[in-house]
Amino acid sequence: MKVLVSGGMGYIGSHTVVELLELNHDVVIVDNLYNSQIDVLDNIKKITNKDNIKFYNEDCTNYDALNDIFKKEKVDAVIHFAGYKAVGESISKPLMYYYNNLNTTITLARLAEEYKIKHFIFSSSATVYGDQESPLYETLELKKTTNPYGETKKMSERILSDFVKNNKDMNITLLRYFNPIGAHKSGLIGEKPQGIPNNLMPYVTQVAKGIREKLFIFGNDYNTIDGTGVRDYIHVVDLAKGHIAALLKSNKGLNIYNLGSGVGTSVLELVETFEKVNNIKIPYEIVDRRPGDLATVYADVSKAKVELNWETKLTVEDMVKDAWKFEKNLKWDFSPWN
Ligand code: WQD
Repeated sequence: MKVLVSGGMGYIGSHTVVELLELNHDVVIVDNLYNSQIDVLDNIKKITNKDNIKFYNEDCTNYDALNDIFKKEKVDAVIHFAGYKAVGESISKPLMYYYNNLNTTITLARLAEEYKIKHFIFSSSATVYGDQESPLYETLELKKTTNPYGETKKMSERILSDFVKNNKDMNITLLRYFNPIGAHKSGLIGEKPQGIPNNLMPYVTQVAKGIREKLFIFGNDYNTIDGTGVRDYIHVVDLAKGHIAALLKSNKGLNIYNLGSGVGTSVLELVETFEKVNNIKIPYEIVDRRPGDLATVYADVSKAKVELNWETKLTVEDMVKDAWKFEKNLKWDFSPWN
């Protein structure tokens, strides 16, 4: 298959591109490098030793530019990752988030229809469930999210579900990610946040590397095993493989799957696992809760297991080991101290 991957130079996109190439699919990446660097392409080639990959440095809101690519490349499927994803930034820059995250989705769906592309996979998020009791099932009604980023994911899901009603021979799959962490075992690609990391794992690896003095744990008074937030962490390579499983599934219409481990891990449990596996102490300080955070979020993963024949294989130990290996390899080409 020839697959167009929007945002394919990003954290999850690049890991999915590696899995596609290793299965001998042809890949066309479209990415404006807003949240990634060009060296990711070299690293993808180093990992896979494949050259059936093309890269277009374009913005996925640009219909004309993308139309030229679709006309030229004749792809069989689209996997859509391109979008801004920082919760905090979305609160301070809502228009930027609504404009970009909705227009990338609309532009790509429009072109998929015009070029009669049958497979369209969308990078959605557990955030769309809003504040409700875990385990989270795909059949649950979605509640209001706590930020514009989450709303753009919900709106994109709604746009695609209305769109597929008029394109009954298309297979549109919404993949709801829980908490992707870790990195490819080569240590060549991984999560490289710009500036101060919002997410737990990259903050921990930067503390381990001495870039940050200590981890601030946002609250230990939640109703959880040890008072700290519980999340469903999934190795990014397992997540990437979930996209391959979805691509091979050919049922028409709208398909929604949780991609998680189905297991909840607290902040302190993740930190302790990181310390044990990597033999590094992570100093931390308990501070106030972060506004918008939920106590416990984890998936029911039975639907993907039954229908996609997919489930996570890698453990939290693998995640913290691989995350640290990538961080150690990272040469900071801009100050992460800002
Ligand atoms: C995990 C836990 C924090 C940082 C993320 C993304 C969101 C979506 C889902 C993609 C929480 C605690 C964190 C820190 C901490 N991803 N924490 N100190 O909040 O579940 O959401 O995954 O769609 O965009 O934000 O993940 O890694 O930010 O937090 O104590 O410095 O770690 O309170 O309990 P979250 P996270």
